[in-house]
Amino acid sequence: PSSYTHILAETRGKVGLVTLNRPKALNALCNDLFVELNQALENYDNDPNVGCIVLTGSEKAFAAGADIKEMKDKEGIENYKNNFLGHWTHITNIRKPIIAAVNGFALGGGCELAMMCDIIYAGDKATFGQPEIKLGTIPGAGGTQRLTKAVGKSKAMEMCLTGSVNLNAEEAERLGLVSKVVPAGELVDEAIKTADKIANLSQPMVQMIKEAVNQSYEMPLSAGLRFERRLFHATFASQDQKEGMRAFAEKRKPSFVHH
Ligand code: CAA
Repeated sequence: PSSYTHILAETRGKVGLVTLNRPKALNALCNDLFVELNQALENYDNDPNVGCIVLTGSEKAFAAGADIKEMKDKEGIENYKNNFLGHWTHITNIRKPIIAAVNGFALGGGCELAMMCDIIYAGDKATFGQPEIKLGTIPGAGGTQRLTKAVGKSKAMEMCLTGSVNLNAEEAERLGLVSKVVPAGELVDEAIKTADKIANLSQPMVQMIKEAVNQSYEMPLSAGLRFERRLFHATFASQDQKEGMRAFAEKRKPSFVHH
């Protein structure tokens, strides 16, 4: 139960589930939706009872992009002064893992939103694409950057330059954009199952892994490896490392205290 207008937010055990909920607009990402999304994610990030987050839409659309009707009359300098879409990157500051469970259309900003998450699961009818060129503009929230890193230059160019070459779920999995394809009706449960698994592991370690994997996009290899090694060293200051390794040696299940 939540008091938002454009999204739903509820917890399932240790998992925060956020559902984009503008069905009449195929979950077009208007400004107010994003403000609410950021708020919900921030709340879960600060909630010690939540260990992982699932973000989903409807069976028809994860999100059909930024809200075209809302942005069509915007002006360049106004966009610059207000840093239009700047607040979208807030998601990348969330420390807990976010699994995108994508059914239906993930187009434009919808595809970009999924790519800002940490794991993408796709329903078998999912469609990923960057149609902005057909609107006389270009991707504005990572489409030229994250998509290129996920699927390689040739496919990313083809998608962004034509606006009409989309990926279905199987192609998205084959190219590495998506880690698993699930029948549409089972998608959210499957994502929650994985999220629950993550939420029951040592939370500081989970956060460190997310941080380290994301550094691989920002740093040269030698610096990234150093960053990883230092975090690895730091894990030995935790109770969970002692417990995890002792439990292995004693042939029992570890009981993590998230410290
Ligand atoms: N913005 C605003 N409204 C949208 C929308 C969007 N991105 N996508 C769909 N809608 C609205 C439609 O206008 C329609 O509203 P009305 O009933 O009031 O007419 C409603 O959602 C249902 O859509 P359709 O009737 O078009 O549904 P369809 O099943 O025939 O087609 C679709 C589905 C192919 C996804 C089609 O809606 C479509 O092409 N949407 C736009 C996709 C797009 O171009 N996305 C990129 C946006 S730009 C962007 O995201 C910039 C960025 O990088 C940040």
